[in-house]
Amino acid sequence: MAGRTLGYDQAGSGPVLVLVHGFPLDRTMWSEQLQGLSDLRRVVAVDLRGRGKSPGGDPVTTIDDHADDVAATVESLGVDRVDLAGLSMGGYVVFAFRRRHPQMVRSLILIDTKAADDPPEAKEGREKAAAAAREQGTIGLFEGLGPRLLAPSASDEMKARLRAIFESVPGEASAADSLAMRGRPDSTPDLAAVDIPTLVIHGAEDALMPAEGAEEMAGRISGARFVPVPNAGHMAPFENPRAVNAAIREFLESVKI
Ligand code: MLT
Repeated sequence: MAGRTLGYDQAGSGPVLVLVHGFPLDRTMWSEQLQGLSDLRRVVAVDLRGRGKSPGGDPVTTIDDHADDVAATVESLGVDRVDLAGLSMGGYVVFAFRRRHPQMVRSLILIDTKAADDPPEAKEGREKAAAAAREQGTIGLFEGLGPRLLAPSASDEMKARLRAIFESVPGEASAADSLAMRGRPDSTPDLAAVDIPTLVIHGAEDALMPAEGAEEMAGRISGARFVPVPNAGHMAPFENPRAVNAAIREFLESVKI
């Protein structure tokens, strides 16, 4: 499937940093990164297909489809290469993008994500999540998933902001994403081949993907840095933007343009 151009929010100018959101979310999870990093990069937070500024059309069937959409969007920006960051499912998209469009990536930022594919027991959960999203909308996933995305100390205001994102994402998009994640390949064998600067950031209190796994993943990527983020669960950029922006800033300042 040829990639389609996505909608996005942007801030700043110069070399491009693309931000890819997680499941079942949209570009608005990155608002603090748009504000906080725009003096360093042209920060572009995309909406993956089917939500927000990238509405409608044929739903994705694979994570590769999302990667090709991001590549079409990068092309439309008129740049050759970007720094590419993804949170969780966005990280799966980053792995697929690096496989399919390696010449377009200058550096990788992997946030609260993992390289492994779904174990068999998780695949069944994907079917259930897809059915629930189709029947009840994405908000139908909030009760089971929403609170697990945040550290236990998350404020009510933060929970409400997260809930509002679930409310705005169409159920069809989340159903398609859930099934696409189920079918994604294992990216672990790719790690040893990554030969560009890489930063791995992970919420210290991530209940969905323990930080130890991310540290181990970073250890398999030559030269990668690992930064654990205190007071943050699975949504580190949303929960502790100060620490995440500081880590991204320090990293990007070291990346050769
Ligand atoms: C995400 O945050 O994008 C998802 O939790 C990833 C997943 O379900 O594997």
